[in-house]
Amino acid sequence: MKIKVINGPNLNMLGIREPEIYGKTTYKDLVKLVKESAKSLGIKVKVYQSNNEGEIVSAIQKCYGKFDGIVINPAGYTHTSVAILDALKSVSLPAVEVHISKVDEREDFRQISYVGKYCEKTIKGLGIDGYKKALEYLANKK
Ligand code: DQA
Repeated sequence: MKIKVINGPNLNMLGIREPEIYGKTTYKDLVKLVKESAKSLGIKVKVYQSNNEGEIVSAIQKCYGKFDGIVINPAGYTHTSVAILDALKSVSLPAVEVHISKVDEREDFRQISYVGKYCEKTIKGLGIDGYKKALEYLANKK
């Protein structure tokens, strides 16, 4: 099984950006955790990050025929992007949405998730461990 982990804008700033909300773990820590989790689950993983909506759409499209599932944290695009939702629908792969912070307890504008309308599962507020849970979910599906 091969999973693509896609991260949206500003997640490369983890550890620096708003540590009271996102914690002190860095993006490098996140990538390490994802790779170690995949290894222990016996699955393959590729991790991707972009600050650009169109690049995220293209990254999702490129998963078609090459990956068995997607873990996505669209970050700020979660709450705005119909294009990312449509890309997920286009490739029709099982997908899990991850949010590091407790989005439910935050601003009103964060209460809408477009990608959540497609994803099989949403994991929120567990910090970077949410990525591990998402991989476990996809790995245990089959
Ligand atoms: C986030 C939550 C979003 O609302 C925010 O825009 C982010 C990160 C999270 O992981 O908690 O950039 O997706």
